[in-house]
Amino acid sequence: MQFDMKSLAPADRYRLLVNTVTPRPIAWVVSRNADGLLNAAPYSFFNVLGSEPPLCVLGIGQRAEGDPKDTARNIVESGEFTVNLVGEHDTRIMVDTAAEAPRDVSEIDVLGITTRPASLVSTPLIASAPAALECRLWKPIDTGGNFTIILGEILALHIGDEFLSGPDDRPRVDTEAMGLVGRAFGAGGYIRNKDTFEEARVGWPVPDRG
Ligand SMILES: Cc1cc2nc3c(=O)[nH]c(=O)nc-3n(C[C@H](O)[C@H](O)[C@H](O)COP(=O)(O)O)c2cc1C
Repeated sequence: MQFDMKSLAPADRYRLLVNTVTPRPIAWVVSRNADGLLNAAPYSFFNVLGSEPPLCVLGIGQRAEGDPKDTARNIVESGEFTVNLVGEHDTRIMVDTAAEAPRDVSEIDVLGITTRPASLVSTPLIASAPAALECRLWKPIDTGGNFTIILGEILALHIGDEFLSGPDDRPRVDTEAMGLVGRAFGAGGYIRNKDTFEEARVGWPVPDRG
């Protein structure tokens, strides 16, 4: 069956897309408003997009009343944010930060999320995150619809020492040990980043598989 996006209502497009394009990594984004209030919220329209410059992307919708979400507003105003990757141990509290808190309430304070300072931006990192990105706004894109696309330049990557081994100039990352979770499908489905398998890449011409 083919679904023509133009003939679908936005809510149906959303439901079909998020239940098909899976799994998606989750950015647990910390941002700061003009009064200094810290905000945390998860975003699974998220990925990294390149390494020169190193960019990441967030797709941020609007609140029910059509206002921008705090994260989009804060990033555009302050020009920075942090992306914290989510370990399974933080899944519950990460989902709690998706509740639409009033604008003058900090999820970080109310839910008791421990942060630690970043080094290149003033927005802190979530202390329990196995890995995190310090980001500067690179380009906001107004899609003309109800989404804002945030392109962020990744200024620094943090990885917990316990997940690194080998030489400092070419460390090995033990991704599996980080226990990261991603967004799967359904209203509240998550996936553990563990069920992987290997396929080696080959040069051209590819070997005869017959
Ligand atoms: C796992 C997860 C992923 C989410 N991904 C997105 C997303 O990619 N884009 C979006 O607009 N909202 C997403 N949401 C909903 C926002 O987190 C929610 O609207 C939140 O209240 C926004 O908070 P803010 O206004 O403080 O930024 C997601 C929620 C969850 C639980």
